[in-house]
Amino acid sequence: MSRPTLVAGNWKMHGSLAANLSLLTALRAGVTPALKPQVAVCVPTPYLAQVQSVLAGSPIAWGAQDVSEHAQGAYTGEISAGMLQDFGCRYTLVGHSERRAYHHETDAQVAAKAEAALKIGLTPILCVGETLEEREADATTQVVTRQLDAIIARLGAAGLSKSVIAYEPVWAIGTGKTATPQQAQAVHAMIRACIAQVDGTVADRLQILYGGSMKPANAKELMGQPDIDGGLIGGAALVATDFLAICNNA
Ligand code: PGA
Repeated sequence: MSRPTLVAGNWKMHGSLAANLSLLTALRAGVTPALKPQVAVCVPTPYLAQVQSVLAGSPIAWGAQDVSEHAQGAYTGEISAGMLQDFGCRYTLVGHSERRAYHHETDAQVAAKAEAALKIGLTPILCVGETLEEREADATTQVVTRQLDAIIARLGAAGLSKSVIAYEPVWAIGTGKTATPQQAQAVHAMIRACIAQVDGTVADRLQILYGGSMKPANAKELMGQPDIDGGLIGGAALVATDFLAICNNA
Protein backbone atom coordinates (compact mmCIF):
# COMPACT_ATOMS: atom_id res chain seq x y z
CA MET A 1 0.00 0.00 0.00
CA SER A 2 1.39 3.39 -0.82
CA ARG A 3 1.29 5.95 1.92
CA PRO A 4 1.87 9.70 1.61
CA THR A 5 5.40 10.75 2.55
CA LEU A 6 5.83 13.29 5.33
CA VAL A 7 8.97 15.37 5.86
CA ALA A 8 8.86 17.11 9.24
CA GLY A 9 11.49 19.48 10.58
CA ASN A 10 12.32 19.50 14.27
CA TRP A 11 13.94 22.83 14.99
CA LYS A 12 14.63 21.86 18.62
CA MET A 13 15.70 24.90 20.71
CA HIS A 14 17.00 26.91 17.79
CA GLY A 15 15.80 30.10 16.17
CA SER A 16 15.08 33.78 16.60
CA LEU A 17 12.44 35.99 15.01
CA ALA A 18 14.97 37.15 12.41
CA ALA A 19 16.46 33.73 11.63
CA ASN A 20 13.01 32.10 11.49
CA LEU A 21 11.75 34.69 9.05
CA SER A 22 14.48 34.00 6.55
CA LEU A 23 14.18 30.21 6.96
CA LEU A 24 10.37 30.24 6.65
CA THR A 25 10.44 32.60 3.70
CA ALA A 26 12.82 30.27 1.86
CA LEU A 27 10.68 27.23 2.73
CA ARG A 28 7.54 28.98 1.56
CA ALA A 29 9.17 29.73 -1.75
CA GLY A 30 10.54 26.20 -2.14
CA VAL A 31 7.57 24.11 -1.03
CA THR A 32 5.03 24.31 -3.83
CA PRO A 33 1.71 22.45 -3.86
CA ALA A 34 3.23 20.25 -6.60
CA LEU A 35 5.92 18.94 -4.24
CA LYS A 36 5.33 15.27 -3.52
CA PRO A 37 5.70 14.94 0.25
CA GLN A 38 3.64 16.55 2.95
CA VAL A 39 5.89 19.07 4.71
CA ALA A 40 5.79 20.33 8.30
CA VAL A 41 7.96 22.22 10.76
CA CYS A 42 7.90 21.65 14.53
CA VAL A 43 9.11 24.84 16.13
CA PRO A 44 9.75 26.26 19.62
CA THR A 45 6.36 27.27 21.07
CA PRO A 46 7.07 31.01 21.46
CA TYR A 47 7.43 31.22 17.69
CA LEU A 48 4.13 29.57 16.80
CA ALA A 49 2.40 32.90 16.17
CA GLN A 50 5.18 33.94 13.80
CA VAL A 51 5.10 30.61 11.98
CA GLN A 52 1.31 30.76 11.72
CA SER A 53 1.45 34.20 10.16
CA VAL A 54 4.37 33.54 7.79
CA LEU A 55 3.10 30.13 6.61
CA ALA A 56 -0.61 31.02 6.39
CA GLY A 57 -2.01 29.81 3.07
CA SER A 58 1.10 27.76 2.23
CA PRO A 59 1.11 23.96 1.89
CA ILE A 60 3.49 23.71 4.87
CA ALA A 61 1.94 22.56 8.14
CA TRP A 62 3.41 23.33 11.55
CA GLY A 63 3.49 21.96 15.02
CA ALA A 64 5.05 22.03 18.46
CA GLN A 65 7.74 19.85 20.00
CA ASP A 66 5.90 18.81 23.15
CA VAL A 67 2.45 19.06 24.70
CA SER A 68 1.09 18.74 28.21
CA GLU A 69 -0.88 15.68 29.16
CA HIS A 70 -3.28 18.03 31.00
CA ALA A 71 -6.03 20.06 29.35
CA GLN A 72 -5.59 23.07 31.67
CA GLY A 73 -4.90 23.99 35.26
CA ALA A 74 -2.14 24.72 37.75
CA TYR A 75 0.78 23.32 35.73
CA THR A 76 3.22 26.21 35.56
CA GLY A 77 5.25 26.24 32.39
CA GLU A 78 3.19 23.61 30.59
CA ILE A 79 1.48 24.16 27.22
CA SER A 80 -1.84 22.46 26.48
CA ALA A 81 -2.98 20.93 23.21
CA GLY A 82 -5.78 23.52 23.05
CA MET A 83 -3.20 26.33 23.17
CA LEU A 84 -1.31 24.74 20.29
CA GLN A 85 -4.53 24.47 18.34
CA ASP A 86 -5.14 28.19 18.89
CA PHE A 87 -1.99 28.80 16.83
CA GLY A 88 -3.05 26.55 13.98
CA CYS A 89 -0.83 23.59 14.83
CA ARG A 90 -1.56 20.41 12.99
CA TYR A 91 1.16 18.34 14.67
CA THR A 92 3.02 17.98 17.91
CA LEU A 93 6.04 15.85 18.59
CA VAL A 94 5.50 13.58 21.57
CA GLY A 95 8.10 11.59 23.48
CA HIS A 96 11.17 12.82 21.60
CA SER A 97 14.22 11.06 23.03
CA GLU A 98 15.55 14.37 24.35
CA ARG A 99 12.32 14.77 26.37
CA ARG A 100 12.53 11.17 27.56
CA ALA A 101 16.22 11.53 28.53
CA TYR A 102 16.43 15.08 29.94
CA HIS A 103 12.91 15.47 31.28
CA HIS A 104 12.42 11.89 32.39
CA GLU A 105 9.23 11.40 30.40
CA THR A 106 7.98 7.87 30.94
CA ASP A 107 6.27 5.63 28.39
CA ALA A 108 2.99 6.17 30.25
CA GLN A 109 3.37 9.96 30.17
CA VAL A 110 4.20 9.91 26.47
CA ALA A 111 1.00 7.95 25.84
CA ALA A 112 -1.02 10.38 27.98
CA LYS A 113 0.40 13.35 26.04
CA ALA A 114 -0.51 11.68 22.77
CA GLU A 115 -4.05 11.17 24.00
CA ALA A 116 -4.31 14.83 25.05
CA ALA A 117 -3.15 15.91 21.58
CA LEU A 118 -5.60 13.60 19.82
CA LYS A 119 -8.51 14.78 21.97
CA ILE A 120 -8.04 18.30 20.56
CA GLY A 121 -7.54 17.08 17.00
CA LEU A 122 -3.76 17.44 16.76
CA THR A 123 -1.73 14.69 15.09
CA PRO A 124 0.91 13.42 17.51
CA ILE A 125 4.25 12.41 15.99
CA LEU A 126 5.15 9.70 18.47
CA CYS A 127 8.90 9.22 18.81
CA VAL A 128 10.42 5.86 19.72
CA GLY A 129 13.95 4.51 19.56
CA GLU A 130 16.76 2.78 21.37
CA THR A 131 20.04 4.06 22.81
CA LEU A 132 23.43 2.78 21.66
CA GLU A 133 23.77 0.60 24.78
CA GLU A 134 20.37 -0.93 24.10
CA ARG A 135 21.24 -1.63 20.45
CA GLU A 136 24.56 -3.17 21.41
CA ALA A 137 22.79 -5.33 23.98
CA ASP A 138 20.50 -6.54 21.19
CA ALA A 139 17.54 -4.95 22.96
CA THR A 140 16.25 -2.73 20.12
CA THR A 141 13.08 -4.75 19.51
CA GLN A 142 12.39 -5.09 23.21
CA VAL A 143 12.80 -1.34 23.90
CA VAL A 144 10.81 -0.13 20.90
CA THR A 145 8.06 -2.68 21.59
CA ARG A 146 7.86 -1.53 25.20
CA GLN A 147 7.54 2.11 24.07
CA LEU A 148 4.88 1.14 21.52
CA ASP A 149 2.93 -1.04 23.93
CA ALA A 150 2.27 1.91 26.24
CA ILE A 151 1.03 3.95 23.28
CA ILE A 152 -1.13 1.11 21.91
CA ALA A 153 -2.67 0.44 25.31
CA ARG A 154 -3.72 4.06 25.71
CA LEU A 155 -4.66 5.06 22.15
CA GLY A 156 -5.95 1.82 20.66
CA ALA A 157 -6.46 1.42 16.93
CA ALA A 158 -8.65 4.53 16.70
CA GLY A 159 -5.94 6.79 18.15
CA LEU A 160 -3.15 5.16 16.16
CA SER A 161 -5.09 5.74 12.95
CA LYS A 162 -4.75 9.49 13.59
CA SER A 163 -1.09 9.41 14.66
CA VAL A 164 2.34 9.35 13.05
CA ILE A 165 5.25 7.35 14.45
CA ALA A 166 8.88 8.43 14.20
CA TYR A 167 11.62 5.86 14.70
CA GLU A 168 14.67 7.73 15.91
CA PRO A 169 17.59 5.63 17.11
CA VAL A 170 19.06 7.79 19.88
CA TRP A 171 22.60 6.99 18.76
CA ALA A 172 21.89 8.52 15.34
CA ILE A 173 20.41 11.81 16.56
CA GLY A 174 22.68 14.78 15.97
CA THR A 175 25.70 12.48 15.79
CA GLY A 176 26.15 12.25 12.05
CA LYS A 177 25.81 8.45 12.43
CA THR A 178 22.77 7.50 10.39
CA ALA A 179 21.20 4.08 10.69
CA THR A 180 21.78 2.22 7.45
CA PRO A 181 18.67 1.98 5.28
CA GLN A 182 18.60 -1.75 6.12
CA GLN A 183 18.86 -1.16 9.88
CA ALA A 184 16.12 1.47 9.74
CA GLN A 185 13.87 -0.61 7.46
CA ALA A 186 14.15 -3.60 9.82
CA VAL A 187 12.89 -1.59 12.79
CA HIS A 188 10.19 0.13 10.72
CA ALA A 189 8.89 -3.25 9.57
CA MET A 190 8.92 -4.47 13.16
CA ILE A 191 6.94 -1.40 14.27
CA ARG A 192 4.38 -1.94 11.51
CA ALA A 193 4.06 -5.62 12.43
CA CYS A 194 3.51 -4.66 16.04
CA ILE A 195 0.68 -2.28 15.09
CA ALA A 196 -0.74 -4.90 12.69
CA GLN A 197 -1.37 -7.12 15.69
CA VAL A 198 -3.84 -4.46 16.83
CA ASP A 199 -5.30 -3.56 13.43
CA GLY A 200 -3.97 -4.51 10.01
CA THR A 201 -5.60 -1.63 8.12
CA VAL A 202 -4.31 0.95 10.58
CA ALA A 203 -0.81 -0.56 10.31
CA ASP A 204 -0.95 -0.40 6.50
CA ARG A 205 -1.92 3.25 6.53
CA LEU A 206 0.36 4.39 9.36
CA GLN A 207 3.11 6.86 8.41
CA ILE A 208 6.36 5.80 10.07
CA LEU A 209 9.13 8.39 9.76
CA TYR A 210 12.85 7.85 10.22
CA GLY A 211 14.85 10.40 12.21
CA GLY A 212 18.54 10.64 13.07
CA SER A 213 21.08 12.54 10.97
CA MET A 214 18.94 12.47 7.83
CA LYS A 215 20.61 14.67 5.23
CA PRO A 216 20.15 15.40 1.51
CA ALA A 217 22.83 12.77 0.77
CA ASN A 218 21.09 9.88 2.54
CA ALA A 219 17.42 10.92 2.42
CA LYS A 220 16.53 9.28 -0.86
CA GLU A 221 17.80 5.84 0.04
CA LEU A 222 16.28 5.93 3.53
CA MET A 223 12.90 7.13 2.30
CA GLY A 224 13.03 4.62 -0.52
CA GLN A 225 12.68 1.74 1.93
CA PRO A 226 9.27 0.07 1.84
CA ASP A 227 8.32 0.88 5.44
CA ILE A 228 9.93 4.33 5.70
CA ASP A 229 7.32 6.96 4.96
CA GLY A 230 9.32 10.12 5.47
CA GLY A 231 11.73 11.81 7.82
CA LEU A 232 11.94 13.74 11.06
CA ILE A 233 14.78 16.13 10.42
CA GLY A 234 16.75 17.95 13.13
CA GLY A 235 19.97 19.72 12.14
CA ALA A 236 19.27 19.75 8.41
CA ALA A 237 15.87 21.38 9.01
CA LEU A 238 17.62 24.60 10.04
CA VAL A 239 19.26 25.06 6.64
CA ALA A 240 16.65 25.88 4.00
CA THR A 241 18.62 24.41 1.09
CA ASP A 242 19.19 21.12 2.97
CA PHE A 243 15.60 20.80 4.15
CA LEU A 244 14.26 21.55 0.67
CA ALA A 245 16.72 19.10 -0.87
CA ILE A 246 15.39 16.40 1.49
CA CYS A 247 11.81 17.31 0.53
CA ASN A 248 12.75 17.05 -3.13
CA ASN A 249 14.29 13.62 -2.54
CA ALA A 250 11.21 12.23 -0.82
P1 PGA B 1 19.02 15.13 13.71
O1 PGA B 1 17.80 15.14 14.75
O2 PGA B 1 18.43 15.12 12.33
O3 PGA B 1 19.78 16.40 14.01
O4 PGA B 1 19.82 13.91 14.00
C1 PGA B 1 16.63 14.41 14.51
C2 PGA B 1 15.69 14.58 15.69
O5 PGA B 1 16.14 14.63 16.84
O6 PGA B 1 14.46 14.65 15.51
